[in-house]
Amino acid sequence: MKHLIDPMDLSKQETDEIISLAQDIIAHRERYQGSMSHRKLATLFYEPSTRTRLSFTSAMMELGGNVLGFSDARSSSVSKGETVQDTVRVVGCFAEFIAMRHYIEGAQLYASEVSPVPIINAGDGSHSHPTQTLTDLLTIQRELGHIDGITIGFCGDLRFGRTVHSLIKALSRYKDIKVVLIAPQELKLPDYIKHDVCERTGIPYREVETMEEVMSELDVLYMTRVQKERFLDEDEFDRVKDSFVLDAARMALAKEKMAVLHPLPRVNEILTEVDADPRAAYFRQVENGKFVREALIVKLHEWKNDPDHGMPEHDKPVYDETLHCGNLKCICNQEKAPYKFRRSEDGTLRCWYCDAKVR
Ligand code: NCD
Repeated sequence: MKHLIDPMDLSKQETDEIISLAQDIIAHRERYQGSMSHRKLATLFYEPSTRTRLSFTSAMMELGGNVLGFSDARSSSVSKGETVQDTVRVVGCFAEFIAMRHYIEGAQLYASEVSPVPIINAGDGSHSHPTQTLTDLLTIQRELGHIDGITIGFCGDLRFGRTVHSLIKALSRYKDIKVVLIAPQELKLPDYIKHDVCERTGIPYREVETMEEVMSELDVLYMTRVQKERFLDEDEFDRVKDSFVLDAARMALAKEKMAVLHPLPRVNEILTEVDADPRAAYFRQVENGKFVREALIVKLHEWKNDPDHGMPEHDKPVYDETLHCGNLKCICNQEKAPYKFRRSEDGTLRCWYCDAKVR
């Protein structure tokens, strides 16, 4: 069965199919109305959300299906101590798809090991957010007419911004991508993305300190919010919270054909004076999120029992009882998921669920 836990669970071809189906849905909305009638999507949100949850709901409604679920785990049996594995076993009896957001990293991967229905990861801690990635790819395609060949600047919280991690992974399969990382020291991209994704796949990346020095090179500027809720130290958050702000003066340095993306919500990193600029694509990006989720649901349904569209073959996990994952926000430290590791090409062992380096 096909789940979407990580952007790489989709092959490049499957990703392309979803992006082009989304474009067909945009062009011929009436053709898809009713394609999910009598089917149900459960949205299990253990963490706040506006766009992601409502765009899943709206997508399923547009397809003629129904939606059930919770947006506050305190109102579910989780508050009685139910595990994510038991929860999806139960909810899988009521719905054909489950979209789950969790503050614990790896929760959806762990849940997918027992789920009777496809699990869609709607964001796990600061780890991954693959449906935002599909939204971002569709937006780049629609704004610029192509994804291959772009230079993309990621700006802001590259450490905790899960949308950044997932989009870089997905972009590693397109041609001639160049990545520029614009972040303060404290918010730099995690090593596993730099090494296991950029260096292994050969995406050129460079790290810079100011937006001004790269603005004129960018085809896409991907702005992000500093993720206050992920900081363990409030002083550290206060030091970096206002690091980068996009304003009209900085936009004046950019190419005429450029797209500003932001997964939203924004706090203060894009001034509202930028909103009227035709290159500001972030509200169009929100709408793309609904169409791409419609396409994803249709495709997951189509692929459900198709052996050609299963999960990709992963390397075999390494079990070692003498090691454990040091990430307190990982599922294996929260729900006694087994300590399981994957070995990177350079010999490093990483947690199976959250990618934290173990050795
Ligand atoms: C993002 C998220 O939840 O990771 N929002 C979204 O899903 N559109 C970004 C964020 O919260 O900053």
